[in-house]
Amino acid sequence: MKIARFSRIGFILAAAGSAVGLGNIWKFPYMTGENGGGAFVLVYLVTSIFIGFAVMIAEMIIGYLGRSDGAGSFELLAPSHKERWRFGGLMIITGLLIMTFYSVVIGWIFHYIVVALTQLPATVADAERHFMAMLQDDITTQLMYHTLAFLIVTWIVSRGIKSGIEKLNLILMPLLFIIVGGMFLYATTLEGFTQAWAFMFNADWSKLTSESFVKAVGQAFFTLSLGMGAILTYSASLEKKSNLVYSSIIIVALDTAIALLAGLMLFTFLYQYGAEPAQGPGLVFISLPAVFYEMGMLGNVFAVLFFIALAFAGLTSAVSIVEPMVQFLISRYGFGRFKASLVIGMVFYLVGIIALLSNTSVYSEMLTFGSKNFFDWMDFLTASVLLPLGGLVMAVFVGYVMEKERVFAAVGHHFGPFFEVWYFSLRYIAPVALFVVMLNLMGILKL
Ligand code: PFF
Repeated sequence: MKIARFSRIGFILAAAGSAVGLGNIWKFPYMTGENGGGAFVLVYLVTSIFIGFAVMIAEMIIGYLGRSDGAGSFELLAPSHKERWRFGGLMIITGLLIMTFYSVVIGWIFHYIVVALTQLPATVADAERHFMAMLQDDITTQLMYHTLAFLIVTWIVSRGIKSGIEKLNLILMPLLFIIVGGMFLYATTLEGFTQAWAFMFNADWSKLTSESFVKAVGQAFFTLSLGMGAILTYSASLEKKSNLVYSSIIIVALDTAIALLAGLMLFTFLYQYGAEPAQGPGLVFISLPAVFYEMGMLGNVFAVLFFIALAFAGLTSAVSIVEPMVQFLISRYGFGRFKASLVIGMVFYLVGIIALLSNTSVYSEMLTFGSKNFFDWMDFLTASVLLPLGGLVMAVFVGYVMEKERVFAAVGHHFGPFFEVWYFSLRYIAPVALFVVMLNLMGILKL
């Protein structure tokens, strides 16, 4: 099968574009706020650097050597007597589940670009009223912007790796870095910065419950785009002689840096203007707009730029969440790219409407199962369960099922003396840690 190739910088930006997303700028700050700050950040950082990095290289290797879609690469690389490993390819379905809420949130962001351009809410109470009114009662607005998100994502993916995905990332990612970097620098000049720093880096272990531990690990996988074949699928379009180790280091570093910068910037603004960090998913939509209002003229400019940056981050990730399934339909069933994009797009669009409705007052009761509504279930199930599980499968596949010589040939000379360290963490540290997460999950879900 012929797959279009990324340019070198195109791959790095596309993979970084996949990683840097709503997970960094929307989820990370509010999860840190909800889970008590420092200890949560530390678990997330340690997981990203020690486990996420190891699994990222494994996922890249599967795509790079397999040169096929998510499922096909597993089949091609598994030694012949181990063909049940082809079920590893099932993980690409996780992407569909993620997109059901991801697209809805991108829709909220579009709406907030308009809010920032027209009238920011003047107080936190106003902002809360506005957000809740949109979330619980305004189905039309949410549906309109969810539709827009679906159309943009589907259109870009239908244009393919080179003129769709690579081009999008080449334009949006540098802009995103400039906006977040600029706003962060401004934040460092404010007094609230010291408090924000303390909140994010002083670990209070008493606040770390087993649920927040699981969430921190899940967040590391979610934010690095690991465990569902996004990085794998992009890596199938790498040039022949690529340095996977170098690429992974850059991607993990960029992703972590953007999460920390966004978190510090947000908490600085919140502390500076006396708003509440433990707001939950509404954090960037409630506290932040009111804070921007307080800042006056500069705040208005910041608000527009911030929501634009957030939209960019969301779109560059969304295309990577959809691409594995699109690639699968193309290579497995001979679909044309346009048709494949449309089919996958329609599925997440329609199921996304259920997620959207599950937050509204009229339908929430009908769409709540146990402790969570449909929207929250999709988030929890994908980030905390399916992505770590997918990561575990990939770590075991590259660490135990594939022949070591083959793995060494792909990354050995780029790792130099550290190859064995990485191979060890892939075989022992990552699986054990992910297994502990699974055990914790069973406790939380009372299985
Ligand atoms: N990494 C993205 C974010 O932080 O928003 C989300 C994501 C993208 C998750 C791609 C999984 C994935 F395969």
